[in-house]
Order: sequence, then C-alpha cells, then structure tokens
Amino acid sequence: MIYTLTTPLYYVNDKPHLGSTYTTVACDALARFQRLEGHEVVFVTGVDEHGQKIQRTAAEQSISPIDHCNRVTASYKKAWNEWDISNDRFVRTTSPRHLPLVQQFFKRCEEAGDIRSGRQTGWYCVGCEEFKDDPAEAINPTCSIHQKPLEWRDEENLFFCLSHFQDKIEALLNQSDFIAPASRRKEIQNFVAGGLRDFSISRVNVDWGLPVPGHQGHTFYVWFDALLGYLTALLDDGGSIDLERLNAVGWPADQHVIGKDILRFHAVYWPAMLMSAGLPLPKKVFGHGFLTREGQKMGKSIGNVLDPDVLLDRCGTDAVRWYLLRDIQFGDDGDFQQQRFVDLVNNDLANTIGNLLNRTSSMSRKWFNESTPIVESKDSDDHALRQVAETAIATVRESMPSMAFQKAAEAILQLAIQANGYLNDQAPWSKMKKGGQDDQVAVDLYGVLESARLVGWLLQPLVPDLSERILSQLNQPSAASNWTEQLVWGRLESGHPLPQPQPVMQRLELEEAL
Ligand code: MSP
Repeated sequence: MIYTLTTPLYYVNDKPHLGSTYTTVACDALARFQRLEGHEVVFVTGVDEHGQKIQRTAAEQSISPIDHCNRVTASYKKAWNEWDISNDRFVRTTSPRHLPLVQQFFKRCEEAGDIRSGRQTGWYCVGCEEFKDDPAEAINPTCSIHQKPLEWRDEENLFFCLSHFQDKIEALLNQSDFIAPASRRKEIQNFVAGGLRDFSISRVNVDWGLPVPGHQGHTFYVWFDALLGYLTALLDDGGSIDLERLNAVGWPADQHVIGKDILRFHAVYWPAMLMSAGLPLPKKVFGHGFLTREGQKMGKSIGNVLDPDVLLDRCGTDAVRWYLLRDIQFGDDGDFQQQRFVDLVNNDLANTIGNLLNRTSSMSRKWFNESTPIVESKDSDDHALRQVAETAIATVRESMPSMAFQKAAEAILQLAIQANGYLNDQAPWSKMKKGGQDDQVAVDLYGVLESARLVGWLLQPLVPDLSERILSQLNQPSAASNWTEQLVWGRLESGHPLPQPQPVMQRLELEEAL
C-alpha cells in the first residue's frame, strides 16, 4: 500500500517564504516517519505556475512568464534541497504532461453534464486568484488579505456545476475524519450548508493558462488546473487517467496538507471535481494554521517577512525544523518569536540533548576503555529509564500519523530530561571516585547511553541531520536501517567503541539569529 502525501503546489509569484517552508517541513516529517514505519511513501510537492498573478509578476519584471516560472521554480527546488525535504515528486503545472491530463479531466466533467457556460460578474482578487463574495466596502473594495483593490469582472466563462454535488459533499463532510483538525470542519460545513454555487473555471482575458479544449479563447482558471497537478505528479507519462493506473501510482492521496486559507478549494471544490470525473477522493485534508511573527501578520508592506534563507544560513535546518515542529501545535496558528526560538533551540537541543550525549559518552570513554560499558543484561526490565523510553517511543508512534509533532517532540525531550536527571541522581562520578563500584556505574551509564540512542532514533523524522549526528556519536548504523528494530530498549551494544565526542548542536546567539 502506497502512502501518498502532498504539500500545496506553491504559487511561483515569489521564492519560498516561511509559510511554505513550514508546510513543507511538516509534510517532510510525516513522510519520513511513514517511511521509517515501513510504508512505501510518495511525497509530492511542486509549484502552481499559471494565472493572472504569475502573468502580472512576470510583466512587472519585463520577462516572459515561463522565464519567470523557471527562475522561481529553481529557487523552490534549491530551498527544499537545503531544508532536507525528502519529496519523491516535484510537479510543475507548466510541464508538458500536465496539459493533456487537465484537458482529459475537463472532458470527463463535460461529458458528465457538470460544465455549463454563463456570465461571471463579481469582485476578484488577483493575489488570492479568487472571487470575493461579499466585500466589506460597497465602493472600491479591497482584499482583506492582500490589502489591494479588488477588480470588477464581467465576462462569459465556463462554470463547473458545484451545485450538482450539494448532497454528496455534505455527506463527505459528515465523515468525521475527512477534514483535520476537527476544529476546521464546522467552518466548511457552514459554508456548504449556505448552498453550493457553481464556480467559473475558465477565463477569457488570461493568456497565461492552459487552453480549454473545444472553447476557443478560454484558458482554465488557475485553481482548476492546479488541483489536477496532484494527479500529474503521480502519472509520470501524463497518459490517461483511468482508475487502475491511478491506483497503482498512489491515488487516492492519503493526505493533502494545506493552510487553512485554501481549505475550501481542497475540501469542497476538489472532491466535487473528482466525483464528476468518476475518480476516488483524497482520504484526508489537513488544514494547518498560519504563522505570525512576534504577534503580527507577516507581510511585505509591514516589512516583517522572515526570510527562510536567512534563518537557514544563520541557524541551520535542525534549529528551525525543531522550533516549528516543537513549539507550534500543528493545526493551530503559531507565532514565531525570536527570543523563544533561540531559547528553545539552546535549551532543548544544545543543553538537554547535546549535553546528555556529550557528558555520557565522555564518561563512558573515560571509564570503560573508550567504549560503552559492558553490562550483563542489556534489556533488563529493571532500569528506571526503560519505562520512560518505552513511553516516549509509544507516544511518538501514536502522535506522528496525525501530525501531532509537538506531542512527539515533547515525549522525546522528556526522555532526555529524565535521563539527565537520572544521571545527576546516580552521580556515577562520585561512585567512581570511591572506587570499586564499576558494575553499578556500568548499568547506570548504559541506561543513559541507551536513552540517548533512542532519543537519536526518535528525532529522525523531525530533525534528520541532528539525529544522524547523535547516532554517529554513538557509533550507530546510519538511519537507513530498520527503525522498528532499533526502537527497542537494550539494542545498544556493550563494549562498543565510542568516538571522541563533538558537540552535536551549536548554541544560537540572539544577535546572530536574524
Ligand atoms: N497555489 C495555491 C495552492 C494550490 S494547491 C493545488 C496557493 N499557493 S500559495 O503559495 O499562495 O500558498 C501555499 C500555502 O502557503 C498555503 O497552504 C497557505 O496557507 C500557506 N501559507 C501562506 N502564508 C502562510 C503563513 N503565514 N503561515 C502558514 N502558512 C501560510 O495557495
């Protein structure tokens, strides 16, 4: 069984921002976890390249839309590489195999009787690429998100008959697990209860879009084409979209992960489109919250946008990944606070985890011949840390599938905290000074090193680089080996050589952070 997971396909109006990085990092953690658990994973990301927003951005820079798209797409690919994103697919909606798929899909909807033409009038936000139903101002309305004037549209468009799907969409939303987290479900149910209205899926004044077959002068509305990018990502040759082929390549997706602002497109429009085309629906849509910075919305006009490149250069992937996944309950809105970021990274990673590893392996090297201690029974039930470690393992495995990263991170941290506490309580250094109690010291130290090993493994999906450094400090196999087998108390070898310890995590200095 393939586990298919997608990020949104990001607009290429600009290079990645912290919001897109956040979603992608979260999906990466889930994809890594599912692979470690033994699933065959298809992790899809990519870019959404058509539409008026992109056309205008290119025009502002006096370059062709495709040159602009190529440039920004390259910056996405570079960024995901630098952020350790383990995507299996990167789809572009300008790829040659996307067009036949979109056209084929449209024809299916047309044949099903779900396409009609009509007049579209209303206020449009190019930034959102969306009609706004009820702008607050009657005259010169602006978009509340982009703070830019809305544009009046009055044109002949093709419509997708969303109204045909009222009952089916209601039934879908009544399934308790289609929208996650549960708190976002009500909002979409209310929207649907207000009555589904057909939405226009073509434009007559936008050249930078895919041509609608059989309707000269019309290009597809960017959202109609973009959502289909999820299928193009899976179908390598762009051929026909029959059920059997889709099944074999990982459709339906197990989870679309998106921001709350585009939940309606994914939880209402997209399932209806798929129903019309006779294709299976994604199993779940997860709408996460928005990131603010020091309590303020991030925006170019406010000048407070946090550049992920700067963060990455100065702090490294582990620090930022840890902060985003550990501090914010995925699903809720979150606030990036510089002081808190620095404190958490220093306390959790450099002090609690880094020091645990460093001092334990130094002691072990010093007292046990540059190796782990030799103990009689490695998997003894008696060790006080065993229960703590097993709770951490169970919590991580329970929380990760539902993207409860914060809970998983806290459980791992708890294990490191308890291991540090245990070491302080046992104070092996004083026992060693008194001489002669090597057996007890060996047992104590073994348990702490074993906890550090498990911390290293459990961190694997969240902060893969740090996890590798921890494991290599313990002279452990690389992360490619079987995690299920590794997550068992007592796997650390006795008398196993330990390398000279190096700090696994540099402390961040506040001034340097941003
Ligand atoms: N192109 C569409 C998606 C099409 S999917 C078939 C799109 N692109 S986007 O680049 O504008 O947004 C991508 C994602 O970034 C959205 O999920 C959006 O919610 C998310 N975010 C944008 N700003 C954000 C924050 N400040 N915080 C968290 N996520 C944010 O929409």
